[in-house]
Amino acid sequence: MNKSKRRAIIAGNWKMNKTAAEAVALTEEIKNSVFSGRTQDCEVVLCVPFTSLQAVVKAVEGTSIKVGAQNVHFEPCGAFTGEISVDMLKEIGVEYVIVGHSERRQYFGETDQTVNKRAKAALAGGLVPIVCIGELLSQRESGETENVLSSQLKLCLEGMSESDIKKVVIAYEPVWAIGTGKTATDEQAGDACLFIRECIAKLYNHEIADGITIQYGGSMNAANAAGLLSKEDVDGGLIGGASLKAIDFSKIVKSANTLERRFL
Ligand code: PGA
Repeated sequence: MNKSKRRAIIAGNWKMNKTAAEAVALTEEIKNSVFSGRTQDCEVVLCVPFTSLQAVVKAVEGTSIKVGAQNVHFEPCGAFTGEISVDMLKEIGVEYVIVGHSERRQYFGETDQTVNKRAKAALAGGLVPIVCIGELLSQRESGETENVLSSQLKLCLEGMSESDIKKVVIAYEPVWAIGTGKTATDEQAGDACLFIRECIAKLYNHEIADGITIQYGGSMNAANAAGLLSKEDVDGGLIGGASLKAIDFSKIVKSANTLERRFL
């Protein structure tokens, strides 16, 4: 397994935070603290609420920052009140979309099957899906982590061709670590990401597994990012709380950049 083949992706998941005006202000702060006069070695993505997407796309113009949505519907159009389609996101310059976040699974009835449909629709329309998987605390405590991850992966990736899967980003997010301040240890994160890579090798092949970006998410912050990101199979982070503070987010990006340069 070769980390140098993969580009780290640091994605901020702003969740249901920031009005459009506040989002632009935070984006400007992030631009100033992260991008002061140099190019980035890692990919930086801001996943902002639907209502801020257009304003943030405009605010990042001329930088290498990419913009992502936090969900997308699998149908192209129709009677799906409250939903947003792939084309609607593409039209305004969105490039990434988070699918299957544990909060969507917990509060909005998302299942592996609907995650699979959303991810496939995203791919078909040219968006990069960040597919989230991860075990509950009870599942970790009862030794079921690997079973849960392999089953989620199999179902979420079902029907994706080799060329599809090459464009997918996986986010390993242990549910017990999200928003709790309880981060997985570097070893737990590294082991789970390695396990996920091995599952991808079984579902596809080693070359594909070697190339796929697997992020860690769950209370990643400025203090613990370097350790987590140094793990061979952890290729970036999906960051909630700490992505709302420009200084903290920029420190995480800098940790990823330092590591990327080491592997160049
Ligand atoms: P957190 O959220 O960093 O606040 O734990 C991560 C996520 O939900 O993606």
